[in-house]
Amino acid sequence: MSEMQSPAANPPATPRILIVGNAGQLGRELERLFAGLGPLIAVDRESVDLADADQTRALVRRAEPDLILNAAAYTAVDRAESEPELAHAINAQAPRVLAEEAVERNALLVHYSTDYVFDGSKPEPWIESDAPNPLNVYGASKLAGEQAVAAAGGKHLIFRTSWVYGPHGSNFLLTMLRLARERDRLSIVDDQIGAPTTSIELAGATHAIVSGILAGRFGAAQAWSGLYHMTSSGSVSWFGFAQAIFARASAVLGVKTPALTAIASKDYPTPAARPRNSVLSNAKLRARFGVQLAPWEIALDETLERLRKYE
Ligand SMILES: NC(=O)c1ccc[n+]([C@@H]2O[C@H](COP(=O)([O-])OP(=O)(O)OC[C@H]3O[C@@H](n4cnc5c(N)ncnc54)[C@H](OP(=O)(O)O)[C@@H]3O)[C@@H](O)[C@H]2O)c1
Repeated sequence: MSEMQSPAANPPATPRILIVGNAGQLGRELERLFAGLGPLIAVDRESVDLADADQTRALVRRAEPDLILNAAAYTAVDRAESEPELAHAINAQAPRVLAEEAVERNALLVHYSTDYVFDGSKPEPWIESDAPNPLNVYGASKLAGEQAVAAAGGKHLIFRTSWVYGPHGSNFLLTMLRLARERDRLSIVDDQIGAPTTSIELAGATHAIVSGILAGRFGAAQAWSGLYHMTSSGSVSWFGFAQAIFARASAVLGVKTPALTAIASKDYPTPAARPRNSVLSNAKLRARFGVQLAPWEIALDETLERLRKYE
């Protein structure tokens, strides 16, 4: 029983699993993959409002999980500038409550964070020990969430990722495919560089790592608990990503390609400032868990193929 474990012990081989945010891009893929790993409860906003700490706490107490996967977040980067309290409640307070409850139950909490904790000023890929300096409310709220999870002192994995997209939800790929039907010309920012990362790849890497932990392959919690960058390999600008999307989508999905113009961020003003270089180094993830996500181009092909076949 989890109550009998020492804090360093791994969760049981067949854990009781709680997935929070299962209607989001990542939550959906996590639910698909973790369904076979143990008894699973998956909830979205209709079952719990994460802005309400009491509801969040009650949810965990009801579910009695050994493993909590928190895929929920306030992800509207621009809207967060005018709703800082709500962004903070969902991205910082809720993870703090989940982490406190995880400690109570000696459960493992898997949490996700963002490249937007950095200010983008470093020319090289960012590593976990680089100093964060968020440029916007969303990034600040996510940073506070990371810090709260770590400070709770329980078994945790925080995966910082970037430019998340997939076959469902609100994301750059699906926006481009929609705009291609509506417009002949598109202007896309070319001076922000990052690593587009799919919900499919993120869920797959999370599943591989958690399965390894449950099987005892990575040792006790002191050896693996912590913060890791988890993104696709390689990097590209939004403009380059759009070019790649249309080059492939025209072949795979028969989408017509609009004329693309590269523009600077200053010519596309948004409420939230964004980092110029968002690329994260995945060296720590690779070294600790032997896990490496596919290059972003391969993951894009896989996602388009999923869209063609099933979605
Ligand atoms: N999307 C990105 O580009 C990106 C980049 C870097 C890091 N990340 C991080 O990656 C993780 C997964 O992101 P994602 O793209 O899968 O997010 P997503 O598709 O926006 O899903 C987030 C989920 O959280 C739910 N949620 C929001 N507020 C809630 C509340 N008050 N109570 C209960 N549920 C609530 C949303 O429900 P509703 O749909 O009803 O609002 C949604 O189902 C997050 O931690 C995010 O910060 C994302």
